[in-house]
Amino acid sequence: MNEKINNIINKKNNSKIISLTAYSKNIAQIIDKYVDITLVGDSVASVLYNYNTTRKITLKTMIEHAKSVRMGVNKSLMVFDMPYNTYKNKKIALVNAKSVIKKTKSDAIKLEGGFKIKQVVKHLIKNKIPVLGHLGIMPQSVRGKFKSKGKTDLERKKILNDAKLLEKLGVFAIVLECIEKSLAKKITNEIKIPTIGIGSSVNCDGQILVTDDLIGLTNSKIRFVKKYINISKNIGHAVKKFKQEVKSKKYPTKKYSY
Ligand code: KIV
Repeated sequence: MNEKINNIINKKNNSKIISLTAYSKNIAQIIDKYVDITLVGDSVASVLYNYNTTRKITLKTMIEHAKSVRMGVNKSLMVFDMPYNTYKNKKIALVNAKSVIKKTKSDAIKLEGGFKIKQVVKHLIKNKIPVLGHLGIMPQSVRGKFKSKGKTDLERKKILNDAKLLEKLGVFAIVLECIEKSLAKKITNEIKIPTIGIGSSVNCDGQILVTDDLIGLTNSKIRFVKKYINISKNIGHAVKKFKQEVKSKKYPTKKYSY
């Protein structure tokens, strides 16, 4: 198995897994030294393209973003989020996953789902494609409002069973999106592979966020998002200063001219 993947698995019960998204080289090269996993997320659909669903992003567009990200990723594990409809059966999934890995040099792919995609996951892993699972809120399947998961016994049982199934099939870790905290704890305790939470409490083996949310590039008001910096404000200040200096002919000085 890929050494980077082994390192991720070995973090279980040792140290938290740090993961963030990147859609371009510039962001990827900043985050790479701090994260264990760089995810080329299909969240790019809403973050950069303003789509109301991740279903609208195409494989072609995702591949272009991943090629850019690849140039900035050196240390971390690069995971490609397979977009909607690209893994609807095992044959299609394998063709697409192979093409993604060949074109983008990603280390692994991420798929949303449990029992429903059992055959797909099995087939990909059999063909040596490393898979990161994703349970809880699965944006590719949501129509309308996102609601946290694990409130009813039936739902809890299904998510736990799905997590155990994915583990059995050989995924190397599972993203848990917006899962109630006691269920996140139960899953994390009952499987041997790491869980990576997003809105799923501290009870997971690691955390993932959308970088653009964390740095304040988006206007996201999602409960689980903590903005660590308001980068939009900083960019605004720089642009304002540039404008003032151009208008007052302070820029460019001799130093910046040929
Ligand atoms: O698309 C994405 O960015 C994701 C994560 C935030 C888990 O799936």
